[in-house]
Amino acid sequence: MKQFRILLWGLVAISVAGLAWFTLNQTAPGSSGGFSTDFDLVDTKGNPVDGEALRGRPHLIFFGFTHCPEVCPTTLFEVTGWYDELGKDGDLLDAYFISVDPERDTAELLENYVANFDPRIKALSGSVEEIEKATKAYHVFYKKVPLDDGDYTVDHTASVFLMKADGSFKGTISYQENPEIALEKVRNLLKS
Ligand code: NI
Repeated sequence: MKQFRILLWGLVAISVAGLAWFTLNQTAPGSSGGFSTDFDLVDTKGNPVDGEALRGRPHLIFFGFTHCPEVCPTTLFEVTGWYDELGKDGDLLDAYFISVDPERDTAELLENYVANFDPRIKALSGSVEEIEKATKAYHVFYKKVPLDDGDYTVDHTASVFLMKADGSFKGTISYQENPEIALEKVRNLLKS
């Protein structure tokens, strides 16, 4: 009986810890909208785009890099597919591809890269410090990984973030999520 009670309290403790973790991760510090906007990026024309400028319309945020062999092109291809499905409604949706490889991803490289996808997808970059701040704001993981040939790749969070016009977090779309469910999530974002 005593062991059973200890087990029960253990389960309660795990639940409370889990709930606290979940709450912390849903409401990042730094702004009322839930996500910090304390970072300064630039678009491919060199125009400043700070965290606040991303707000105003529903938007998708995806972090990646142009040398990415698979995850980034696949995801941007899927985003392009959502825009195709949305048609004119898609004009109300912004999408940002933020580089986690600012040292290699020049403005020119980024511009040429996103030109392969829907023109409504905008590429953003910034200094190493500002990219660090932006990834922290969205709780995004990224890490340089050396390759045998002396080059490197970058492991990174592969989810697409669905953000409401006020900058609050609506949800995510996982890498290669069921296409119908993904599209439904994007449509719901536009309605919210
Ligand atoms: Ni990638």
